[in-house]
Amino acid sequence: TYVVTENCIKCKYMDCVEVCPVDCFYVGAETLVINPDECIDCGVCEPECPAEAIKPDTEPGMEGWIAFNAKYAALWPNVTEKGDTPEDAKEWDGKPGKLEAVFG
Ligand code: SF4
Ligand code: F3S
Repeated sequence: TYVVTENCIKCKYMDCVEVCPVDCFYVGAETLVINPDECIDCGVCEPECPAEAIKPDTEPGMEGWIAFNAKYAALWPNVTEKGDTPEDAKEWDGKPGKLEAVFG
C-alpha cells in the first residue's frame, strides 16, 4: 500500500484524490490519509502530489505513517474531489515538525 506522510500536513494539495482509481483517500482538517485496506498499490498518486508526501510503505522508516494512515482512515470521511488548498500551503511545504505541531 501507499501512505500519506508528514509533508501533506497543512499543504493538502489534494491532486491525489483526483487520480485514485479506487477512491481510498480520507480527509481531516489538516491532512489526508490512504485507507490501507482499500489501496490497490497502483502508485499513480505518488507522482501527482506536489508536496511529494505520498510514499510506498515499503520505504524504510514508514512504520509510524502506516499506523497513522490506518488510524485516521477509520475515523475520517472519504474524499473523492479536490477541495480548496490552504492559502498558506506553500509556506508549510517542506517545513519540519508538522506532525508534532498539528497532532502533538
Ligand atoms: Fe489510490 Fe493507487 Fe494511490 Fe493506492 S496507490 S492511494 S490505489 S492512487
Ligand atoms: Fe496531501 Fe499531496 Fe494529496 S499534499 S492532499 S498527499 S496531493
